[in-house]
This record gives sequence, structure tokens and C-alpha cells, in this order.
Amino acid sequence: MCGIVGYLGERDAYPILIKGLSRLEYRGYDSAGVALINGNGNLVIYKSKGKVADLDNLVKGKDLSGSTGIAHTRWATHGEPNDVNAHPHFSESGNLALIHNGIIENYKSLRTELSSHGYHFHSSTDTEAIVQLIEYIMDSHHITLEEAVPLALGNLVGAYALVIVNKKDPDSLIAARKGSPLLIGVGENEFFVGSDATPIVEYTDKVVYLDDEQIAYMRKGKEMVITDINKVKKTPVVKKLNMSLSQIEKGGFPHFMLKEIFEQPSALETSMTGRLYEKESGVKLTGIIDNKERILAARRFIICACGTSWHAGLIGKYILEELTRKPVEVEYSSEFRYRKPVLFPDDVVIAISQSGETADTLAAIQLAKESGCFLFGICNVVGSSIPRTTDTGIYTHVGPEIGVASTKAFTAQVATLIQLAIAIAELDGREPELRREIISELVKIPSKIAKILEQDQMIADYSKTFTYARNFIYLGRGYNYPVALEGALKLKEISYIHAEGYPAAEMKHGPIALIDEEMPVVVIAPRRGNYEKIVSNIQEVKARKGKVIAIVTEGDTEVKSMSDFYIEIPDTIDCLTPLLTVIPLQLFSYHIAIAKGRDVDQPRNLAKSVTVE
Ligand code: M6R
Repeated sequence: MCGIVGYLGERDAYPILIKGLSRLEYRGYDSAGVALINGNGNLVIYKSKGKVADLDNLVKGKDLSGSTGIAHTRWATHGEPNDVNAHPHFSESGNLALIHNGIIENYKSLRTELSSHGYHFHSSTDTEAIVQLIEYIMDSHHITLEEAVPLALGNLVGAYALVIVNKKDPDSLIAARKGSPLLIGVGENEFFVGSDATPIVEYTDKVVYLDDEQIAYMRKGKEMVITDINKVKKTPVVKKLNMSLSQIEKGGFPHFMLKEIFEQPSALETSMTGRLYEKESGVKLTGIIDNKERILAARRFIICACGTSWHAGLIGKYILEELTRKPVEVEYSSEFRYRKPVLFPDDVVIAISQSGETADTLAAIQLAKESGCFLFGICNVVGSSIPRTTDTGIYTHVGPEIGVASTKAFTAQVATLIQLAIAIAELDGREPELRREIISELVKIPSKIAKILEQDQMIADYSKTFTYARNFIYLGRGYNYPVALEGALKLKEISYIHAEGYPAAEMKHGPIALIDEEMPVVVIAPRRGNYEKIVSNIQEVKARKGKVIAIVTEGDTEVKSMSDFYIEIPDTIDCLTPLLTVIPLQLFSYHIAIAKGRDVDQPRNLAKSVTVE
């Protein structure tokens, strides 16, 4: 969602800020803005609806000097995307400018109150209330900005990551967070602020992750000071950033999404390194070994996630139940948090999230924590909020995922859940044969994915014939039912074609009414699991003249002969097929979207990490 960049130091701030905004574009946004304290000591603000490039065009020829500044990409929540609602917002006097991620729930009452004191509002945003409130507190209490910020934050209800510049104090920046991520890069006599590490990685690998309700006071030539909102000092913990510049660049691919699809063989290998031991036929996960008693005593596992991570969670349910014989429930975090789930202290809640910042999943964790459940996180972004709020967990370690449509994060989540299930089954000696078989097959998955990727051109050529389609149905059974959901989600989010995923046997209970010669039906039919059953489902589609696009195992003849088009995958055991069947579906969605001229890396209305509920 919204993106934040800040700079304070000796260099020109603008080039750092604008480049930082481009690095944050992947998060999804609809307007952008920048505020600088320029060489003349003036606070200048430029904002524009549209892309970062539009902002960069707008400022051509303007005075962009100054080595203190903040910049923002906004994903509209309160008020439509336009120049006025774009951040930064400024205070009544024009001395303060502020950028903000998150939502302030009591903004209406704050605006009413501040208006009664003569403050004027220009935008429809919640953010403007924050900057006006800070100035009001400064003026009414006759205190400095440093003193006013904690008081103002104490009056806010909601979530924020924010950065403030003050024209009257050009050598300082103040940043704060609650519920929305924020980190500070520490360089030589300079500071970089980011809502994630992508705008920072180019300049320093030393970062401080702010905790909730912490405020960072940065001043040129001085050490950073961190306090909580009660003004109690905290020692900044400087961590080494686990990211490289090449990971956040396209590396010769036209889009991040395609790069990330092609990265899957190596990403999965990295993700399994140091965990999967083929020779010993075991999986070593510190989070499981160190919490053996708690995990073995689990009454059940409850998986909480959203979107693609939820689909991975469904596959996790199947494998965890097969290997551990414990009950597993899979919950949409957004539903779980707002009903009254029955939770027990001996439940283990597994939160899955690529970004580690999804607001609903964070809230689900909080709810489970209150019931005393053991909390296990599966995340990709190191140092993000979910790993910091769970008891233990596993990083998927596939490097930054920039494309909005999740690809390598999904396969890594599935591989991680499979390893988790093996590790738990290992604890009480269950299913030794099956575990051995899975491990010996899992190590072969990266090279099998590489083989599927060789069909990219063929898939691209065929995809073009589907630009006419307005609807798609995806069908799968067993382990490949969640893959059908994931394939449909991929297609709709980047091509804007309506698509539905179904367990194949459910088709007869309704969706079959949709099938005619215009309806493309993607059927995931590897020669494992319920193969014969899915063959019957394909016949039902063909009998109604539906167009069948099948994902089949190499050497298959039966399904191939019934299909209009097929894509082959190498054979593997049933529970690992999702790691292969999803690959052609990712490529298929990508190429249809490209053929339709869509912006695949930044599809409309979508944000990479959904930090508001
Ligand atoms: O960062 P998370 O894994 O928690 O994100 C969850 C969903 O927002 C995410 O998977 C979303 O569905 C993707 N755009 C799917 O491609």
C-alpha cells in the first residue's frame, strides 16, 4: 500500500527520494508527493495524481535543492486519488509537512475539533488531521515539535507510520510507527527512512526497525534517539539488512513477475537449504525443535492467512493432516478476527504471510495471543511485524517479491508447510516411509520446475488466443483444488478477466450451468490423486462444449486426447504436485495479461501488502 521515504544528511535529498519512490511503486499507489526543505530554507511540496514519473515531470525546472526531505506514494483510503489528497500534508502555518501510512479512525472528530480552533483543511484525508493536531499542540502548549509529537500520537486512534519535517528545524526528521511498518537506515552522518527496505538497500545495510508506539528523532551529525510515546528512551537496535540491490531490480526480465516466476527453482533451493537433509532423510527446523513439547501437545493447528497465502495454507492443511493426523483449520484472517472463534491455550496458530505486514493476519495473531495459543509465523520479509509478534516461526527466504501477484512466495510457502509437516511428524515418529519418499522427491522439485519453465514460449503463444475470454473456470481436486483457486486468483488480479476456482466435483452443484463453447475451463489433472475422477469431470465439460486447457503429467494420453490444449509437468508424488501444477498457471496468467496490455507488476486497485483492513 502507501510507501514512505525520508532522507536527512549531506547529499541532495531529491534524487534519493524520487528513486526511493520508484522502488516502492510495487506496493501499489495512485498518487505521489515530495516535500523538501530547500537551499533557501523554504519548505516546498510537490504532489501529483498518477505515477512517480508524473511527479518527476511536474518538478522539472523547480528548485529541488536541500538535503532534508520526505516523499510518499499514496493508495487512496480517505478521499479520491487526486493532487490535493496526495501526501505530504502541511500544517496551518505551513511550517510542518507530514507523510503517513495507515488509517486514523478518529480523524473526523479531530478535524471537527481543530476546525473549531481555526484550522483549515484542504484535503479529505485522515492524515491532514495529524499534522494539524501536532501544530495545534505545539502552539497551544508553547512546546517544541519534539515535545508535541508524543502528545499528539497519544490522541490518535488507529494505525500509523509517519515522518515529519519542520521548516523551522531543517536539520531534523521525526518518524514514528504504530501498526504500520517503518525502518530507518543508518549511514555515515545520514539517515534514510522507509516503509520497507527497498528505498534504503542501495545506501546502507544498517537498519533499525521501529517498534509499535516508538518515535525516532534524527538530527544531522547526531546519534538517533528513540523513545516510546511516554518519552521513555529506548536503545536503537541496529540490524544488518538481509537484501541486495540486484534482488530488487528486474535483471533483464521485462517484469518483476516474470523474473520471480523464473526465480522459483533457485528460490526454492535456497529456501530449503539448511533445513532439508536428504541423506539423513530429515527436516531440521529450529522453531520446531526448540518448542517440541508445545507442538506435540497441540490440540489442533489453525492456519490464518489472506489471498495467495491462504491458498498455500489450504495445501498446508492437507499435508499436515496426512502426516501428523492432527486436526487443521484454515481461516481467512479477516473472518477469524471478527467472529468469536473458539480457541484453546493448547492450539497452535500458524500465520502465513509473504509481507509479514498484512493487517488482518496481524489482528488474527493478536486475538490468538489473547487466548494463550502458541503462535507460529511463516513469512518472507525478514524483520517484518508477523515474525516479531509470533512465538517462533520460519522465514521462507526467497528474497524480495516485488510483483504484486505472488508467485515465488506461494511455492516457498507450500514447500515450507510441507517441511513443517515432516518436522512435526518426525517428532513423534509418524509416517517414516512417506516422509522419506516426500524428502527424496522434494529435492528434485527445483529442477522439475526449471523443466516446466522451458515451455514458456509455447504457453505465451497459446495464451494470446484467450484475450477474448470474459470468464474462466479452474478445476482441481485434492491437493490441486487450492491450486485451482490460486490459478483463478492470478488470472483475475493481473488480466482483470473474471475467473473462479472450484473443487472439480463441485462443478455439478452449480457452475456447470456456465459451461458452453465460450467458456475456457482450466483443469489440473496430474496423474496422481483422484486422476480417474478428474477425467470424468473433463468429460462433463467436453459434453457441454467447454474448452479444456489441461495441466497433465508427462506421458499422459487420456487427458491430452480430451483437451483443446495441454501443458505437461514432470511426475511427482501427490502432495508435491501443487509445486509443479501452479507454474504453468502463473505463466498462463502472465501472458494473457501481457497480451491484453495490462500492467502486470502494478495491477489496478491492488497493493502488494495490505496494511489496512
Ligand atoms: O503478504 P501476505 O502474504 O500476507 O499477503 C496476502 C495477500 O494480500 C496476497 O497473497 C495477495 O492475495 C496477492 N496479491 C496474491 O497474488
